Amino acid sequence: MLGAADAAAGVRAAAEWTIPPAELRLRERVAVGGFAEVFRGTWNGTTVAVKQLLERGPDVVERLREEVLTLCRLRHPNLLLFMGWCADPPLIATEFMRRGSLHSILRGNGGHLGAPRTHHAAVSVAKGMQYLHSRSPPILHLDLKSPNILVDDKWRVKIADFGLARARRNTLVSGRSGFHGTPEWMAPEMLRAEDYDEKADSYSYGVVLWELLAAQTPWNELHPMQVVAIVGYSDRRLTLPPEARDFAGENLVTRALADLFWECASKSPRARPGFDEILERLERAPGMLLSGPEPAVGTAQTPPRRADVSDANATASRARAPTPRTSASRGPAETAAGVEIEEITHHGDAPSERDPAAAEHTTTAGEYLVHEDEEA
Ligand SMILES: Nc1ncnc2c1ncn2[C@@H]1O[C@H](COP(=O)(O)OP(=O)(O)O)[C@@H](O)[C@H]1O
Ligand SMILES: [Mg+2]
Repeated sequence: MLGAADAAAGVRAAAEWTIPPAELRLRERVAVGGFAEVFRGTWNGTTVAVKQLLERGPDVVERLREEVLTLCRLRHPNLLLFMGWCADPPLIATEFMRRGSLHSILRGNGGHLGAPRTHHAAVSVAKGMQYLHSRSPPILHLDLKSPNILVDDKWRVKIADFGLARARRNTLVSGRSGFHGTPEWMAPEMLRAEDYDEKADSYSYGVVLWELLAAQTPWNELHPMQVVAIVGYSDRRLTLPPEARDFAGENLVTRALADLFWECASKSPRARPGFDEILERLERAPGMLLSGPEPAVGTAQTPPRRADVSDANATASRARAPTPRTSASRGPAETAAGVEIEEITHHGDAPSERDPAAAEHTTTAGEYLVHEDEEA
């Protein structure tokens, strides 16, 4: 329950960010789901994404307002930038992420993205999640999955879709409070409608790491109800397919990602690391790669070489890296600042359907929205 002061602040915040719908111009539709359509559009000359809800009515507007209240509290480079909203028609405007979702990128690529980009995506998502969980009270995302992770033209990776997010005001959130995540990414305790906490997001993050390593859809062969039965009520768990194990064996970075996947996607919440630890381990991994061989137990790996991080982007990040020293002589923060793969500028592989020029077709706009071509 919100206190009266919270509620008043919420009403003010929600009012502050409203957009008159006449200021929005919709271009092509980029996605459609059960509850919403997403368009590329412009708002006063700036390209935006407009998520327009398909349903209307007081319940819908209330849910939208809750999402807006979460969004306007978030300020982090790895969380999708909220720009404004409108109650009628019900919509949210955000920055536009030209490459679309990580899910569609992995599908379009037909295989993993290579070690540097995979690591970059894993770090970006972990930073966004660490920020959410470090709010006071912590914010749980509860719908973390590759379709809700978006990528822009500069390969910046951001978490989106805060429609199910909620603040954790008690030690645990009641599992009986009922909500609708996606079983493939949901923690076993949530599937069983038990109480949960931040470690439910760690589980979903583990499934995202699995997707990055395997470049497949988790539990693809199963019906969602079978996923509930297997993940929620049996001993069986997600394991890496053979191709993903080969990728994981490539170097110490991919090895670290595979180890984190294994722990994060574990059945027991207590066995899953939180995002402070996840980030610390992710940022240590490339430091180990740069500082020379460090044999991993029981894995057939190629010896870690600087050349393992081998594209133009990694070259750029090496240029910023300090002279490699032994990992023992380097504190975690320093390691993080030195060799992190921050931004990947090489992007010759943009999916063409994302190219605005290649997709000039426009679509149905809500009746309140003025279509750009109609004005011309
Ligand atoms: N800002 C954006 N830029 C580009 N594509 C987006 C953006 N927001 C959403 N999308 C696309 O729309 C899909 C659904 O958006 P999302 O916010 O997750 O809505 P839903 O609540 O229906 O799941 C995403 O998976 C992505 O493909
Ligand atoms: Mg979504």
